[in-house]
Amino acid sequence: MTELPGTPRPLNILGAGRAGTSLARAAASAGLPVRIASSRPPTAMRLHLAQYAPRTTAVAAAEIAQDGTEQPIVVLMVPQEDLDSVDPDWLDGCVLVDATNRWAEEPLPGWLQSALDAGRSSSQAVAARFSGATVVKALNHVSHWDLDTAGRSPGPERRALGVASDSEDAAAAVGRLAVDLGFVPVLLPGLAAGRTLEPDGPVFNRPMSAPELALLTGGTVVQD
Ligand SMILES: NC(=O)c1ccc[n+]([C@@H]2O[C@H](COP(=O)([O-])OP(=O)(O)OC[C@H]3O[C@@H](n4cnc5c(N)ncnc54)[C@H](OP(=O)(O)O)[C@@H]3O)[C@@H](O)[C@H]2O)c1
Repeated sequence: MTELPGTPRPLNILGAGRAGTSLARAAASAGLPVRIASSRPPTAMRLHLAQYAPRTTAVAAAEIAQDGTEQPIVVLMVPQEDLDSVDPDWLDGCVLVDATNRWAEEPLPGWLQSALDAGRSSSQAVAARFSGATVVKALNHVSHWDLDTAGRSPGPERRALGVASDSEDAAAAVGRLAVDLGFVPVLLPGLAAGRTLEPDGPVFNRPMSAPELALLTGGTVVQD
């Protein structure tokens, strides 16, 4: 049975749009230190963050994985069409949570399109591209409207969050993040299984309990 780490970790978010700022608000409300970066320098994010993600620290994108911890957690919330502008060196050594999805006709970088054409999941393609990081698919199946509150809804039935990785340690670290945000983590059997969390899968944007998500994804519910 997977044991979740005991100590909450700082959260680093690459992308400060709708998804990045709603996750930042949720994490800050949960008491986590939050660092966030966009394509703009930190000084140019000041007013945007004051409005959409107060209580967070703006950093340069190139420094997003430098939070002073041994294996920082970075959530990737940059549109897939912009992923060529993310330098893989920025993410070396981190646990990279791939929270990206493709929207309908979004043009994709060549490496991503060819991996999808070859039958790989989007996160397998991201893992090959950002090969210095340990990739986990998670947080992509919850809309930005829900990220703010979904994990903190009142009542006994907490919402489930799918977590897919080939690394047990990285999955456990992200499982702990899920708990800190108020979700119940469901660990999927490997990164490729993260395909079931994608937009055409059975759980996308559908609030559900952990046993229900586990049934639909072949995952295992983790109790904190
Ligand atoms: N919206 C949702 O409900 C939701 C939920 C879960 C997952 N997602 C996924 O998250 C991703 C982002 O979606 P979104 O709706 O948040 O998009 P968005 O509102 O368009 O925001 C995109 C953000 O990415 C930043 N960015 C672009 N290139 C960058 C780079 N090279 N380095 C750092 N930051 C960069 C942009 O920076 P600037 O502002 O400086 O241009 C902007 O802050 C998509 O793949 C989406 O499918 C979205």
